[in-house]
Amino acid sequence: MDIQYVCPKCHSPLVIHNNLKYLCSKDCNNSKCNTEYEILNDIPRFTEISNYANNFGYQWNKFDDTQIDNRKTRKLELSKDRLFYQGDWDPADLSNLNILEVGSGAGRFSEVILSNTNANLYSIDYSNAVEANSKNNFSGNQDRFFLSQASVYEMPFPNNSFDKVFCFGVLQHTPSFDESIKALISKAKIGGEIVVDFYRIKGWWTKIHAKYFLRPFTKNIPDRRLLSLIENNIDWLIKISDILNKFGLHFLTRFLPIVDIKTTFPKDLSTKERREWAILDTFDMFSPEHDHPQSFSSVESMFKKHNCEITFSGIVNMPDGFKSNVVRAIKKIDVT
Ligand SMILES: C[S@@+](CC[C@H](N)C(=O)[O-])C[C@H]1O[C@@H](n2cnc3c(N)ncnc32)[C@H](O)[C@@H]1O
Repeated sequence: MDIQYVCPKCHSPLVIHNNLKYLCSKDCNNSKCNTEYEILNDIPRFTEISNYANNFGYQWNKFDDTQIDNRKTRKLELSKDRLFYQGDWDPADLSNLNILEVGSGAGRFSEVILSNTNANLYSIDYSNAVEANSKNNFSGNQDRFFLSQASVYEMPFPNNSFDKVFCFGVLQHTPSFDESIKALISKAKIGGEIVVDFYRIKGWWTKIHAKYFLRPFTKNIPDRRLLSLIENNIDWLIKISDILNKFGLHFLTRFLPIVDIKTTFPKDLSTKERREWAILDTFDMFSPEHDHPQSFSSVESMFKKHNCEITFSGIVNMPDGFKSNVVRAIKKIDVT
């Protein structure tokens, strides 16, 4: 392990105690800290058991391999394309680097890094989605895959450590976009690269959408109940959405309580897979506590405010038609 875990509170190095918990080392001169962190199912835990991301833990443990490229039943290159196009990386660019992935979910991007590069990957997620990621990716990669349950706001790594930091599909779901960006930058080396994607505010109409009308209510429905509501209604919703798309009325699908199938799904999914993706992504749309879309200019100013140089800001087009909103930046100086 090139980068040692440190206590997210006092920043002193962590040592493994013989009861298999991480403890602050003797260097910890903060007598109030002395915190111990559990290692559960081989995964160090730096969070409280229950937090605002519980819905994601539920979701990713239910749909643990739905969006993984190398699924037993078929192969996709969706996550691979997304990672390498969004980062504008080649697998060789990442060779031997120390990479930090924040908000890894079930590990769709962890899997791509681990199967296409020899980089050391440090992944965190705030929820117990880390269980799904571990199931998908731990075996065979123990020497270079370091997975822990932690929040972007309290990461168990020293500042100025990583060559690359990426955070995909996450920032809009954190309470403060700006604080999250600041935290990502703090862990990159000077000269290191940070790449993020996010939901975008396109104009006044962005929030005229079933998601923004209904989520204040649906996020309070218990996860199991919300999932079964979606499962019981998904078939007619898919039918109406397909009819609207067939007749060129895609703009009306924003009023349907279902994910946008036309622009967010890969083209070659089987009918069964399409249904599974629709249930997963509709749950992902209605269950989060936070959903804060941003404009390119606001994300750019957050990076600039924290002493980064923007190297790219715009829409990235993937080969199968998927588009994402990406900002890439280089850390110029350390302000921590
Ligand atoms: C929509 S999922 C995306 C997961 C994965 N990156 C993907 O694209 O499949 C968002 C993830 O961000 C995680 N997350 C939310 N808030 C977080 C925080 N404060 N720190 C770390 N992860 C967080 C959630 O637990 C969830 O797994």
